[in-house]
Amino acid sequence: MTYLETTAQFYSEVAQTPEVGLCCVQSSSLQLPGLKIPCKMQEMNYGCGTTVHPNELANNPTVLYVGVGGGLEALQFAYFSRHQGGVVAVEPVEAMRNVARENLKQATNLNEWFQEEFVEIREGDAFNLPVADESVDLVAQNCLFNIFEPQDLATALKEVYRVLKPGGKLLMSDPIATQPIPSHLRQDERLRAMCLSGALTYNQYIKHLIDTGFGQVEIRTRRPYRLLDTNNYQLEKPLLLESLDTVSFKVPIADDGACIFTGKTAIYHGDLDHFDDNAGHILTKGVPASVCDKTAAKLNEFSDIYITDSTWHYDGGGCC
Ligand SMILES: C[S@@+](CC[C@H](N)C(=O)[O-])C[C@H]1O[C@@H](n2cnc3c(N)ncnc32)[C@H](O)[C@@H]1O
Repeated sequence: MTYLETTAQFYSEVAQTPEVGLCCVQSSSLQLPGLKIPCKMQEMNYGCGTTVHPNELANNPTVLYVGVGGGLEALQFAYFSRHQGGVVAVEPVEAMRNVARENLKQATNLNEWFQEEFVEIREGDAFNLPVADESVDLVAQNCLFNIFEPQDLATALKEVYRVLKPGGKLLMSDPIATQPIPSHLRQDERLRAMCLSGALTYNQYIKHLIDTGFGQVEIRTRRPYRLLDTNNYQLEKPLLLESLDTVSFKVPIADDGACIFTGKTAIYHGDLDHFDDNAGHILTKGVPASVCDKTAAKLNEFSDIYITDSTWHYDGGGCC
């Protein structure tokens, strides 16, 4: 069996017998007024963060969700779109498609506003998305792409890029590793399927996005996810995994590189009332301005500009 077949088999098992807490982080999931989540759907939260960012959902974007799981995030997206086919979810595992449909049916009993037709579940996979070129506004995936080996990840990202409209967005949540994961764990297909051993480092993960062509990446959240301990994982020292939520924009990469926003700000504290670098960045004295990491590095050369650390939380605004 290939690792992708092992993955499909694993998710077929956990579709039939939910494994509570498989991937999720210990925090309350997104609470939306008037949205009730069926119990089984909640138990099948196999995502490690969230891809549902309400401020990306204005103007009724079309959403393509890759790897539907129990349907939790597809339902959350449908909460915002509320029309037939507003969310298309792609899933290769038959048992998972069936359970997601059952869970969504349950959701109609709990939520007056929701109709099953709001989410269309299609058979397909991340490497061959069953939608036309440049046809969707948003693509989302939660805790799936980390399972892919680097070459397959590149293929999946290229496929996302193909189906996104220009200016469209990729919303992702995945584990990342604070140090490279040793090969004995990377080769363990079941651990990989469980989102525990395929994770890339932050720099590798971001590089994949830039190499695909995304010109802007915003980090929405970065937080501890799992600790791989020395006994169970045959490691010399414990290895921390983090969960990373990102939004990547299909916009051209600037000549001087992609804009990666990690929550840094620049604050001018010189003699004038503002600072202008004549490259599009005007800083009012004393007022923090959000900057991408590239701009932060350039502005850091000036002695009268203070650059704050990354907060690992950024959701809009800024100079780039
Ligand atoms: C870790 S679960 C995450 C499910 C869901 N996103 C969530 O947050 O609960 C991964 C999902 O991706 C599906 N999957 C596995 N291989 C896939 C592939 N090659 N393409 C698309 N989906 C895949 C699995 O069956 C499963 O539903």
